[in-house]
Amino acid sequence: MADRIAWGILGTGRIARAFARGLRASQTGVLAAVGSRSMEKARAFCDEFGGSPRASYDDLLADAGVQAVYIATPHHTHAGLTIAAARAGKAILCEKPFTLSLREAEEALEEVRRAGVFFMEAFMYRCHPQIAKLRELLADGAIGAPTYAHSEFGFDAPDDWDDFRADPALGGGALMDVGTYCVSFSLLAAGTGFERAEYRVQRHPRGYDAVGAGLLSFPNGFAATFGTAVHQELRNGAVVYGRKGRIELDSPWVPGPGATLRLVRQGSTEEFRLHPEGGDLYAMEADAVAASLPLRECAAMPWRDTLENMRALDALRRSSGLAVP
Ligand SMILES: NC(=O)c1ccc[n+]([C@@H]2O[C@H](COP(=O)([O-])OP(=O)(O)OC[C@H]3O[C@@H](n4cnc5c(N)ncnc54)[C@H](OP(=O)(O)O)[C@@H]3O)[C@@H](O)[C@H]2O)c1
Repeated sequence: MADRIAWGILGTGRIARAFARGLRASQTGVLAAVGSRSMEKARAFCDEFGGSPRASYDDLLADAGVQAVYIATPHHTHAGLTIAAARAGKAILCEKPFTLSLREAEEALEEVRRAGVFFMEAFMYRCHPQIAKLRELLADGAIGAPTYAHSEFGFDAPDDWDDFRADPALGGGALMDVGTYCVSFSLLAAGTGFERAEYRVQRHPRGYDAVGAGLLSFPNGFAATFGTAVHQELRNGAVVYGRKGRIELDSPWVPGPGATLRLVRQGSTEEFRLHPEGGDLYAMEADAVAASLPLRECAAMPWRDTLENMRALDALRRSSGLAVP
């Protein structure tokens, strides 16, 4: 265990638990400490998953035994915690969306750059082998030059949802929560920066985007559409088209054992099931971070992709009259 990456987790919520479970299955990491706003919650978390409880995020960041931190707190806290973690010299895996705006993202990444530490936005789906396969097929021209992509990510939360995602002041709404996956997928398929962004929404009475449809267009003519929702179940798949065929992903975001990638061309279909036996998506993410630590960024989700994603989230919100702080 001695040569494993010692992880600290900030926050004790839903995704912190998923990552802690993933660390158990990881080849490279171990949970060293957990920081919470409440010592009681940190203790309960560590009783279940291991590690040492810390009574605050500052205490966790001051722990010299922690090498890498996973920021698993609400969107509006990511920029400040990334800056604090960078100043503490920690490698950083920060949940999506990285920040509430491109401006905040640039400021936080500037601190990361200055501190010389590792950073990755936690788009875990990009660490799954099916995304490596998608990249390989696109690069090999399996469907010709990509022309169009479509993706969806939505779920149905209660109308009176009691959650930070239902508060526009905290970056709430569909686009920032799950639409950001579709945006990052669109950018991956396009392989270049976007030119124009349009987003149309149905607003919840509290003001955030309950259901939304987006369009990103690119200088080379490629276009990507997406659907996103926090008050509507969607199909939650993704497809990339080219003149010679298409690549379909049934389960692009949280792939498990049944996840299937299909290459459809000239009337034939090839299926790829690439989930490793017993594999855990969050373990794959932790292991991808470990493999990239000396480079300070991970090829699965490099800094430039995070910045382009934030630029798109800003432009999409502005196009629909949603506020960008
Ligand atoms: N990659 C993925 O698969 C995935 C999935 C879900 C969510 N996420 C992202 O992960 C982040 C956390 O989401 P979650 O679903 O885990 O949320 P959650 O269950 O509500 O947990 C968030 C945790 O953050 C801490 N926290 C700090 N300030 C808070 C505040 N003002 N309000 C509420 N909690 C606060 C709390 O821990 P303490 O009280 O212990 O400090 C809380 O348990 C979000 O940015 C979300 O977009 C990613």
